Amino acid sequence: TLKIGCAVAGGGHHLSQPYPDPFTGDDPYREVLAKEFTSLSAENQMKWDHLRPAPDTYDFSDADAIMDFAEANGQVMRGHTLMWHNQNPAWLEEGEYTPEQLREILKEHIATVVGRYAGHMQQWDVVNEIFDDDAALRTSGNIWLRELGTGIIADCFRWAHEADPEALLFFNDYNVDGINPKSDAYHALVKDLLADGVPVHGFSTQGHLSIRYGFPGDIPENLQRFADLGLQTAITELDVRMDLPEGDEPTPEQLEQQADYYRRVTEAALSVEGCESLTLWGVLDKYSWVPGTFPGEGAATVLWDDFSRKPAYDAIQDAL
Ligand code: XIL
Repeated sequence: TLKIGCAVAGGGHHLSQPYPDPFTGDDPYREVLAKEFTSLSAENQMKWDHLRPAPDTYDFSDADAIMDFAEANGQVMRGHTLMWHNQNPAWLEEGEYTPEQLREILKEHIATVVGRYAGHMQQWDVVNEIFDDDAALRTSGNIWLRELGTGIIADCFRWAHEADPEALLFFNDYNVDGINPKSDAYHALVKDLLADGVPVHGFSTQGHLSIRYGFPGDIPENLQRFADLGLQTAITELDVRMDLPEGDEPTPEQLEQQADYYRRVTEAALSVEGCESLTLWGVLDKYSWVPGTFPGEGAATVLWDDFSRKPAYDAIQDAL
């Protein structure tokens, strides 16, 4: 059955106002996380900049707290993320390491982090956002691809699989909801890796949608072609933003359109065999990354800040 997940806000990033850390400072919010969801993801707390304050240290305190919370509430977890071009610590991006050293750093990180949660993680986003919107590999912007070459992609999956043979290992990206050149590129890459025996188990689309751009109608067809390769699929970061000129409230029409997007994504997930996880990238607008990242847009989550329900909440329920 489909797990419905939520990203746990916090880690000090992109809150539109200076709130205390939601996960430690907001009990009603924690209750919603526990009550409404069967899966959790760390919005920031398992990224490199959070786990790796210095080259030779790990700080697992926030990540462990989320894992403990999930276990106490009978929830599964998705790990996010091991190899990415963003949110890497300065010591890494600006350090003067040889390729051999970088390879060792990455290998050791994956073994340590994946190993720590082995047996407790349902899915891992091993490799995140390696293609840009022109469907080209980020061979200059991604430190690992730049310094180590594209062969490092297979190594990441192999190292993660060694550290946790149970976890399902995913490629994750945005703007790959429907069939387009970027999702085509993933499809071709996955095919090659599987032919080489690389342990890739899943393909996930983040699902950062905006009602401004229209709904990607071919989500089921896109996910199905990955299922046909033998992969699981997932929607990992769903939110549906809208234009909100300064101070504006969403109109009823906007909220209906948003609800329709949430409904259709839920229906898409349900319609594809092997799509077992649908995660919302936040549940309250005040903790959402959207207003800080997309100026003039907001209201992307399914609850109002007072915890009352938007039409989108009911739309998901209706679809399930
Ligand atoms: C975002 C978080 O939501 C923000 O708090 C943070 O400041 C930046 O990252 N794709 C991803 C996520 O894979 O990790 C990103 O999360 C959103 C886009």
